[in-house]
Parts: sequence; C-alpha cells; structure tokens
Amino acid sequence: MPANPDDPLRPLRRTRQVREFERTPLDPAVLDALADVARWTGSSRNTQPWRFIVITEPATLRALHAAGLPQTRGLATATAAIAIVLSSDPARAVSDAYDDGRVAERILIGARMLDVGAGISWIREDVRPAAREILGLPGDRMVRTVVQLGRPTAAALASKSAPGEARLPRDVVVLHERWPAG
Ligand SMILES: Cc1cc2nc3c(=O)[nH]c(=O)nc-3n(C[C@H](O)[C@H](O)[C@H](O)COP(=O)(O)O)c2cc1C
Repeated sequence: MPANPDDPLRPLRRTRQVREFERTPLDPAVLDALADVARWTGSSRNTQPWRFIVITEPATLRALHAAGLPQTRGLATATAAIAIVLSSDPARAVSDAYDDGRVAERILIGARMLDVGAGISWIREDVRPAAREILGLPGDRMVRTVVQLGRPTAAALASKSAPGEARLPRDVVVLHERWPAG
C-alpha cells in the first residue's frame, strides 16, 4: 500500500478531454497499445460486444468531424482516433452503452498515462447513418463513441478552470453511509 494512495491514482484524476492537436502523428506502437487496453476492457458477461476501428487516415477523421459537429470538434485536428463499434440492436442498448463508457474511459486514461491527448466525440443518433457510411459498417453495427487522439497542443493542455475547481467539492459529491437527513 503506498504511503499516499493519491499518488499512483494521479493519472486517473488528471484525465481530461483534449480537443486540439499538433500535426505530428503518433507512433503506431502507441495506437496498438491503446487498442490492446481497449481489447482487455471488461464487458457485461465478457461478451466483448465491440470492435475497434483505429483510424489515421486524415480524410476519414475530417469526414467524421464534419458529419457530427459540434460534438466531433476534437476530430478537426486529431491525427488518429479509435471508433468503438457496437451492435445497433435496440435490445442491447443499455448494456452496450455501459460497456461503451467503460472502454472509452480506459482509452482516455491509457492515453493520459502515455502523455497522449485524447477526448470523446459523441456520435449523435442522427449522425450515426453518416458515420456508418464513412466507416463502411454493416447495417447491424453502429458507432456512438469515437475517441480522438494525438499530441496535444499547449493550449489544449492549459487548465480550463482555477485549480481544484473543475469538479464539485468532495463534501458535496461524496456521502457516507446514508443520504443525509433533511
Ligand atoms: C458520455 C460522455 C460524452 C461526451 N461527449 C462529448 C462530445 O461529444 N464532445 C466533446 O467534445 N466532449 C464530450 N465529452 C467530454 C465532456 O464534455 C467532458 O468530460 C467534461 O466537460 C469535463 O471536462 P474534462 O473531462 O476535460 O475535465 C463527453 C463526456 C462523456 C462522459
């Protein structure tokens, strides 16, 4: 047990969205490593309902960017992305959405640990047919989350809030034993 449990958990607390990237591409080994983090993520009943499309082709990244604005604004300058492909069967929606969130967050944390910038581009429902077309998906598959990746610009790394203010205070968010009376 470390003397201060906060220390090894720092990459998790410091995981933030990056939406602006330098032009220099990422090393392919970094993308392979992040795809492996994705592949090893746990899922409901270990069904591994996903496939991951690693995208580095600028035309594909920009097409997804244009199709899904404003949520996809992080794809304007991204040099890579990982699209999380799931079933489009409505019966699986809730369970798959949970797994989608688990894997997306792991990619963000893995990127943070490698000093790579990453962020979520949410593909809205009305944008999903266009994303399906761009990525060549069959009709029974869809993409809700695209994680954009790249080397962050200095501006993208700059804090957007005053120190300690990006999240609600601990005593507001963390409760003990029971919901407080009153
Ligand atoms: C489920 C989910 C969907 C999100 N969708 C988008 C999105 O479509 N586009 C985007 O730029 N950021 C998106 N975000 C990022 C949030 O806006 C971001 O996490 C939040 O504003 C806090 O900022 P921070 O993570 O940089 O601290 C999403 C985050 C989550 C958890």
